[in-house]
Formats: sequence, structure tokens, C-alpha cells
Amino acid sequence: MAAIVVSLASALVASSSRSSSSLVFAKLRSSTALRVSFAVSPFSSRRGRFMAHTLAQATLGLTLPASIEAPKVSFAAKEIDVTEWKGDILAVGVTEKDMSKDDNSRFENSILKKLDSQLGGLLAEASSEEDFTGKVGQSTVLRLPGLGSKRVGLIGLGQSASTTAAFRGLGEAVAAAAKAAQASDVAIVLASSEGLSAELKLNTATAIASGTVLGLYEDNRYKSESKKPALKSVDILGLGTGPELEKKLKYAEYVSSAVIFGRELVNSPANVLTPVVLAEEASKIASLYSDVLSATILDAEECKKLKMGSYLGVAAASANAPYFIHLCYKPPGGSAKVKLALVGKGLTFDSGGYNIKTGPGCLIELMKFDMGGSAAVLGAAKAIGQIKPPGVEVHFIVAACENMISGTGMRPGDIVTASNGKTIEVNNTDAEGRLTLADALVYACNQGVEKIVDLATLTGACIVALGPSIAGIFTPSDDLAKEVVAASEVSGEKLWRMPLEESYWESMKSGVADMVNTGGRPGGAITAALFLKQFVDEKVQWMHIDLAGPVWNEKKRAATGFGIATLVEWVLKNSS
Ligand code: BES
Ligand code: MN
Ligand code: ZN
Repeated sequence: MAAIVVSLASALVASSSRSSSSLVFAKLRSSTALRVSFAVSPFSSRRGRFMAHTLAQATLGLTLPASIEAPKVSFAAKEIDVTEWKGDILAVGVTEKDMSKDDNSRFENSILKKLDSQLGGLLAEASSEEDFTGKVGQSTVLRLPGLGSKRVGLIGLGQSASTTAAFRGLGEAVAAAAKAAQASDVAIVLASSEGLSAELKLNTATAIASGTVLGLYEDNRYKSESKKPALKSVDILGLGTGPELEKKLKYAEYVSSAVIFGRELVNSPANVLTPVVLAEEASKIASLYSDVLSATILDAEECKKLKMGSYLGVAAASANAPYFIHLCYKPPGGSAKVKLALVGKGLTFDSGGYNIKTGPGCLIELMKFDMGGSAAVLGAAKAIGQIKPPGVEVHFIVAACENMISGTGMRPGDIVTASNGKTIEVNNTDAEGRLTLADALVYACNQGVEKIVDLATLTGACIVALGPSIAGIFTPSDDLAKEVVAASEVSGEKLWRMPLEESYWESMKSGVADMVNTGGRPGGAITAALFLKQFVDEKVQWMHIDLAGPVWNEKKRAATGFGIATLVEWVLKNSS
């Protein structure tokens, strides 16, 4: 039996609570870069490397996230008969084919048949009364006497279920059913799992487990009251047992808690999650896994020394100082064969600047999510810090800042100079993400990496092109495209390759500088990607992921944690 405990840890600012006066705002002052690899908060003044000022409760609006005790759900993989299982809900994942019945209106599927005969035909009767046919999104929970389980749930998987996304969806549906019934123990079984290979069984079990954990999770840190989920244990039946499955479930636990961490970063409003708080969260990750991670946090002075004029131009209007975040993962013991960088856009708020976001549909009130790329990168760092894959070095890089308006801010028409010496005429201050990424990409190339993936909520144009749930990927490298797409097939996150049409660069030419930062509306996601390409060494394989759509779930009014699962999978593919 493989038993694993997954905690829905409330990761962000876990050290803070409403009653205590934590959330320490610290000003970092040091002449050299701060390198953090010790196990206490790096924002303390220990070692005297920099001064820490605790600004008494500086948060605008006096909001602090509550530290909510982490509810624990334990997963166990078991091989027992469904009719013998005892608990609150026995959830069966069924395809439309599984629902087919013989001439006597009896199920043909063996598991459904067995359950139905135990229930004296009630399952067949009730499911047809409920019009349950196994379509995706259909689910029904029936209170039927005669079984060890109090209830039987039928969860539709559609015509056939084979993708990670489908099994993740099954887990999410089970989580919803468990919430509705306030169930504390649940079992999940597939009506048809006989045909699955051993490897597919592993992937299916882990997809179901992470779907359940992520479906169960609700971010209540900013509510004055929150309900604790009742679900304590989930048994996954019929998909094998043993150490390999246990290891896979452990990975799923790391990735799920990283996704929750990423969601919490994005859900946090800009008055709470300022650049310094983001840097603090990154440093916390490095100190939690200090055997493999180290942190370098650069303040504005240090970025100025590195000539990051493009990034600092964006940060110039804000009262909240920018912080450049660099975490480095080195594998335990061994040397690395491959060096990778993950670069994330980290705008803790994007007002648009002087080209302020106005009018309905501009989504200015959602622009706290403009650090979704950095949440993906830091979430991946958290998971990688726990999984500790061998043979690969990974740099996690975020140029964090806020795009605001003030007398010190960048004007439309200003020319900024990036750290590779290229000059940019800022014809639109709202195209700020690419300006911050320019210096972050130059910095990443200077780490001597072979491959870079950047993630950014970069353009509204990408949402127009691909809608809310698909991210656009842009890369000149077919090899890198293959690697990342393969990773996304395992993670179940949707990516679509877009063209890097060089002829569109024409619209990015400036009369006075090397380039402008925006080329107008047509092909806006493509010209943004072409802009980023100017800051990447040609010998480095590079991909840009525009996740402006999938960063946010409009129905749930909450962050998705998009990108983390794919990034972790990609790093593991590069591990040896
Ligand atoms: N953060 C936005 C992109 C965005 C917009 C993400 C809406 C999610 C929803 C980005 O900084 C931006 O403002 N982009 C501009 C670029 C334009 C000025 C060329 C855009 O997409 O409108
Ligand atoms: Mn913008
Ligand atoms: Zn932005």
C-alpha cells in the first residue's frame, strides 16, 4: 500500500498571521549582491550583510493574509474490491462506453455490474433516471443503501479518457463532490482500467491525486472566515501499488503544493505582494531547501551597476522599490550536464503607466496577476528544491517591479538602454513586461545557460488569439518546442506554438533608437516575442510562453498556477 500525505499548505507568508505583526518589510542595503543559503529568514540582519528595517505594518489597507492551518489529505493506492471499500463516497470514473447496457438494461462493464448487483439494480435505475450518460462534466452522487460506502458517485469521462487533463478533471470532480457531501473519506476507481499499461496507471493515479488536491484547494487567506475542508483520506483503487507509485505520488505532492504556492502569489493583491515581498518569498524558498538552492537578490543600486536601464525605467514611478530575484538550483553532489534558466515576468501591478489602462475590458483591476510568470518560475523552484533532480542546474530569474505613474516615472517617448547596450524608444509605457524581461534575459544568458524558457502575462493579443485557457509558445528552436510540448502533455497544460514571423519586425523599428517597444495591434503577441528575441544570445535555445489567458480562472475568480507543472516536467526531462 502506498500512502502519501499531501498538505494543502498555505505557503505564502506562512510565517504571518493576523494576530502577529509579521510580514516584515525589509529594505535591503548592501554593496554586494546578497547571497542567501542559510536556513533563517534572509531578510533578517544576521551576518550584518545588510540592514533590515521593519516598517511597522506598511501594508496599504492594513491587510495581512491569514496563516491558515494546512489541511492534510492522505492518498493511498490500494488493490481491493470496490464492494468491500468502506467510507463516505465511492467515486467511479466512467466513460460513455462504460455506461452501455445489455438487452436486460444491465451494465456490461464489470465494475458497474458488480456494484449494481450488490445494490439490487438500483445503480442502473438511478443513473438512467438522473440521465447520467458518462459525458465529460457530468457527475452524480447517489445515496444508496447496501454497500460499504455511504454513497456512490459516477463521474463522466466522455467517450474515452486517456489524457492527463481528463484524469485531473476526474480528481477535480471528486473534490467538488466531496465538498458538497462534506465527505471525509473517498475512494476513486476507474470503471475500465484493465487496458492500461503499468506506466499509464502510474500517470493516471498521480493525475487523479493532483486533480483532487488542487480541486479541493480554496484560497481563504483574505477572508475573515474560512471553512476547513472535511476530506481527510483518498483511496485510489485498481491502479496498482508499490514503491514506484509511491514515488510518483510524492512528486505529485511536491508539484501540487508548488501550484498552490503559485496560486497564492498571484491571488495576493498588489498592496500585499509588493516586489520586496515577492523577493522575500523567493528567499524563503531558497532557505527552506538550502542544500540545493541559493538566492541572490539585487536592489535598484545593484541593477543600475549592471546597466539594467530597461527594467529600471519601468520601476521608476513606483514608491515600492524593485528587486531582481535570482535563485540557483545545483543538484546534490553531482555536477550538472545541462544548465537551464526559467525567467518570469514579475509585475506585481501593471497600471499601464502614463499609457494608463482605461475603459471597460482593460482589466486594470486584475493586474495583480501580472506576476503570473514569476509565480510559475518560483513555484517550479519550490518543487525542484524538493525533488532535487540530478545532472541539471537551473536558474530562476525575476525582475520584479510595479508599473505605476508619478513624476519620476518613464514618459511615452523616453529612450531607455538595456544591459546589452541596445536602446529602446518607449512608444507605449503599457508594454512594460518586455522591458523588464529584456534585462532579465540578458542576465540569464550571462549565467552561461544552454536553454531559457521565459513566461509572461505579456499581451492581451495572445488572449484574443488563443482564448482564456491556452498559452502561446514562441521559439526558433524546433527541439525546444518538442521538449516543452512533450512536458505539457504530461502536465495536462495546454500550449499552442505560434509563429515568430521575422517580417513583422518592420513595425518595431524606431527613427531614433534601436527599436520601439510596441508595433501596434496586428500580431501583437508575435511582435512582443520578436522584441524579447533581441535580448537572447543566438547560441542559447530560447522559448517565450505568453500565459496572459491561462494565468487566471474567470469562473473561479482565482489564479490557476499555470505553467508550474509543465516547467517541473521539463526540468525533469533535462535531468540525468
Ligand atoms: N500585462 C499586460 C498584458 C495583459 C493584458 C495580460 C490583459 C492579461 C490581460 C501587458 O503589460 C500589456 O499591457 N500589454 C499591452 C501591450 C500593448 C501596449 C502593445 C496589451 O496587451 O494591451
Ligand atoms: Mn502593460
Ligand atoms: Zn503587464
